[in-house]
Amino acid sequence: MLNRHVRLARRPAGKLTAADLELAEAPIPEPGPGEILVRNTWLSIDPSIRIRLAATTPNGYLPPLRPGDELSGLALGTVLESRSPEFAAGDLVSHTLGYREYALLGTRAQTIGGYGAPARVDAGALPPRWFLGPLGSAGLTAYAGLSEILELNPADTLWVSSAAGAVGSLAAQLAKIRGATVIGSAGSPEKVAFLRDELGVPAFDYHAGSLSESLAALAPGGIDTYFDNVGGDHLTAALDALRPAGRIALCGAVSGYDGAAPAGPPNLFTMVSKGLRMRGFRAGSFTHLEERMRKEVAGYLADGRLIHRETIFDGIEAASTALLAMLSGATTGKTLCRLDF
Ligand SMILES: NC(=O)c1ccc[n+]([C@@H]2O[C@H](COP(=O)([O-])OP(=O)(O)OC[C@H]3O[C@@H](n4cnc5c(N)ncnc54)[C@H](OP(=O)(O)O)[C@@H]3O)[C@@H](O)[C@H]2O)c1
Repeated sequence: MLNRHVRLARRPAGKLTAADLELAEAPIPEPGPGEILVRNTWLSIDPSIRIRLAATTPNGYLPPLRPGDELSGLALGTVLESRSPEFAAGDLVSHTLGYREYALLGTRAQTIGGYGAPARVDAGALPPRWFLGPLGSAGLTAYAGLSEILELNPADTLWVSSAAGAVGSLAAQLAKIRGATVIGSAGSPEKVAFLRDELGVPAFDYHAGSLSESLAALAPGGIDTYFDNVGGDHLTAALDALRPAGRIALCGAVSGYDGAAPAGPPNLFTMVSKGLRMRGFRAGSFTHLEERMRKEVAGYLADGRLIHRETIFDGIEAASTALLAMLSGATTGKTLCRLDF
């Protein structure tokens, strides 16, 4: 038995292609003192790994991967062998060594921006994979972005971009539950229909026309708050559409991840002219809220107030395909790769 994993074959030139990644094999590692060996069962497919495939990464972010390096990402698995007093064989564990079948987790906690240190997950009767989605990083990001960064209140009109995605679909629904007026944007008529018909969130397709006109059609009086997953032209449109004293949560900037040069907004002076507030954040700064978020979000999932959509790929062979599909907009909701099928 070997440990199959996805690694960077070569630096992408422009958009990521299948040839930039490769499936490789290595011996299954042996745990040393303090270490545990985990058989991964679910891999979280997140856009941020694309940032690390470029030759340089933004100041303050994780370093770039080098050709030959294994990709990493949030994952769930079962402990096969433990030489740590903190874990026992059979434990379900979340961690950051995804994109591989077996993960050797050491004594030094590896995280992605403070999130994802190896932790035992007590899923109870809930599907374990939800702890990579609405009860995990995506849930905490949406939850912290709304309550801590935007300080959302029921009088707000909120725009969520990439609203049919993992974080966006949760942010849009949680904001609705909190009484705000929510509009969303996404990249296809099917995603707009999903938002409108299944989540009850009025939405527009950002490919279908000018962002400003689409926003004005759904929020004629402007917006008070913007949950930014996209950056670039979306952030520019938000700055124009925000009312005085509006707030922006900078969660991500996916439009600049996959080979496109990140485009800064040319209208930043609206921050001054309208007295706007913009704050970036990472879920890893809000892990103290995770238990509270889990209780609340699990309740909404149970009573049907929150709909959780997933796109699932099967097998480590499909992990690269899943990443390419998610970046290109071909997946809806949380994108996952299942290894225990
Ligand atoms: N701050 C944090 O701690 C944190 C944690 C998790 C995620 N994030 C960020 O949150 C954002 C969403 O992450 P996610 O995991 O929920 O991913 P996701 O939204 O499920 O998937 C990414 C989506 O981005 C959209 N997209 C790709 N290129 C685009 C472009 N040029 N313009 C507009 N949309 C584009 C695509 O959907 P369409 O079909 O709609 O184009 C794609 O499906 C990302 O920016 C991510 O980095 C931040």
